[in-house]
Amino acid sequence: MSIKLPKIHLDSSDPAETKKAKGLIGYLDGQTTNPSLVANNPDIKKRLDEGKKLTEKELLDFYKQVVQEIEKEVAGPISVEVNANWESTAADLLKQAENMFTWGKNIHIKFPTIPAGLEAANQFLKNGGRVNMTLVFTQEQAAAVYTATLKAQSPSFLSPFIGRWDDRGFDGMDLVKNTLKMYRKFHSLPGGKNENLKGKMHVLMLAASIRSLDHFYASIALGADIMTVPMKILEQWIHEEQWIPDEHYRAPSKGLKSIVYKDLPFNPDFKSYDVSKEDGSLLDEGLKKFSADWQKLLQ
Ligand code: E4P
Repeated sequence: MSIKLPKIHLDSSDPAETKKAKGLIGYLDGQTTNPSLVANNPDIKKRLDEGKKLTEKELLDFYKQVVQEIEKEVAGPISVEVNANWESTAADLLKQAENMFTWGKNIHIKFPTIPAGLEAANQFLKNGGRVNMTLVFTQEQAAAVYTATLKAQSPSFLSPFIGRWDDRGFDGMDLVKNTLKMYRKFHSLPGGKNENLKGKMHVLMLAASIRSLDHFYASIALGADIMTVPMKILEQWIHEEQWIPDEHYRAPSKGLKSIVYKDLPFNPDFKSYDVSKEDGSLLDEGLKKFSADWQKLLQ
């Protein structure tokens, strides 16, 4: 049986890599950027090595320039991340999003899946925005995204972070599998469909934090809609002659513990889901890391 290859986004903030990736596989469906990837952009790194930090305006101008360079190569969605921490308010995140949304024709704003990020996204979608809900580590976060985006005019992206769970000894692929199962259940319930999208699933599964070919193949086999893939993994895929697994493919377990499926209830009130906690504090760590990467660029 043939399987549908998910859309491929490049996980990078370097336009030179965008060109290289396109040359390598012949196309790119989109790209995701984040503060850590911006900090690793060769031009920015050079500036930092010379001891030059940036003002907030310079940083945003630089990020915008990077996005516009990428847009010359990629016609599909480009995800751009707001600068957030636990103290950020929804109003603050919304303001950043409205500015970043003007940087290109097909921008998806990456909001962290924390209470302020969900509130900002919910409002932003009402104003016609597009989102990629990021730093997703739990089914509760995924459930909150499902209901917060129910009335959107266009599909939203959900980014579960696979590799970061693996780093903690848990199988990050389980989060993708469990979320897809929960979403199918929600979609079959009364009131569980987005009427603007004529019954199509309104949240697209974007497999993120892909660190290996196993993650790449397992995301295909599980039926992810999109995968955001670092250059290194695309190169490895080329070595394997762009092999595509079927739906029976399972990544080798490597002794990782399972993440157990939770039968969460569907609740149209996104605020009813507890998104601020998960056992390993991966969310806290992830938010702090992105914020620190942002801060280290600033004067
Ligand atoms: C993409 O949108 C994510 O920010 C990225 O995949 C995170 O990957 P990492 O866990 O390797 O930092």
